[in-house]
Amino acid sequence: MFKKVIAIMTASILAASMLVGCGGSTGASSSAPAEEAAEETVEEEAEAPAEDAGDAAAEAVGGDLADKKVGVCIYQFADNFMTLFRGELERYLIEQGFAKENITIVDGANDQATQSGQIDNFIADGVDVLIINLVNSSSAATVTDKVVAAGIPLVYINREPDADEQQRWTDNNWDVCYVGCDARQSGTFQGEIIADLGLDAVDFNKNGKIDYIMIEGDPENIDAAYRTEFSVKALTDAGFEVNCLDDQVGMWDQVKGAELVANSLSQYGNDIEVVFCNNDAMALGALQSIQSAGRTVGTDIYLVGVDALTEVVEKVIAGEITGTVFNNHFAQADGAADAAINYLNGAGNEHNIQCDYTKVTAENAQEILDSLQ
Ligand code: BGC
Repeated sequence: MFKKVIAIMTASILAASMLVGCGGSTGASSSAPAEEAAEETVEEEAEAPAEDAGDAAAEAVGGDLADKKVGVCIYQFADNFMTLFRGELERYLIEQGFAKENITIVDGANDQATQSGQIDNFIADGVDVLIINLVNSSSAATVTDKVVAAGIPLVYINREPDADEQQRWTDNNWDVCYVGCDARQSGTFQGEIIADLGLDAVDFNKNGKIDYIMIEGDPENIDAAYRTEFSVKALTDAGFEVNCLDDQVGMWDQVKGAELVANSLSQYGNDIEVVFCNNDAMALGALQSIQSAGRTVGTDIYLVGVDALTEVVEKVIAGEITGTVFNNHFAQADGAADAAINYLNGAGNEHNIQCDYTKVTAENAQEILDSLQ
């Protein structure tokens, strides 16, 4: 029943393309369906003792959590989703017994050099555990090496290191893990939200295809490539023909999302039937541009995001955004904190801990909104 999830983190992570442009990001392949990938939940993993807890965990000193120092690196504070994530992370760490003054959360300002300096400082300060949201996923090996060398357990969040890197944690029995959700599932849910509307409702220009534009997040986060690939795959799997009119990188940013969608709308006009955004911040930007162009979501265009930011869920209820996907920051933050505690008390962790996304449409948006508050 309790089994490793790392096996399903296939070479597709490595294969995921950073290219953009229509069709560019769909080169990533996966041998595991998203549903399967998410079969282990954070809650289950966090409560279960690991089979291969690392050496340091076995020797963990235990003791009162109130005395333990936690260092948290966030890739960028100016990110709506990571703001929710870090708020919950701090709240839950305190609830579990850590002292507020022993929790230090720093802003990497989207600069790996800045973040690497922050990690060096945490090591010099002798923190007991590190929770790191990398700026550049490609820096994982370097970061892991120095943190492991310092004998500090490490929990990665939000930007998943690649399969080779995760294999090193297993091979060396290091106290290093990743806690997150499988973005293939969120992409699949986005595509399904559109597929469920049916071709007649979506195909405004009656060319027999679903004409879409894609606004991608930062390629440093595998979530961007997976959401791009799997949203479209869900449509083709459901038997629809698709036509990608435009595919641009909006870096998870609302202002960039607005600009890119405004450009696409002026270039492709009424041919755009669906706007896929890799996250909700960009969907909010997209909505501004859709409205400025005199278009109406649900009437002559559809719009989907990911995250379930409160503002977006409210707009789903109001019919201004077609749907989103709840990126469970509670489960991810609590799971990361639980993993940190497991290292501190010697229980150890599996190396890859996953949680589920939830599809959000007008049907369940109120329920989701209630759960967010
Ligand atoms: C979220 C984005 C966020 C990004 C940060 C993604 O999983 O969906 O909203 O900007 O993580 O890396």
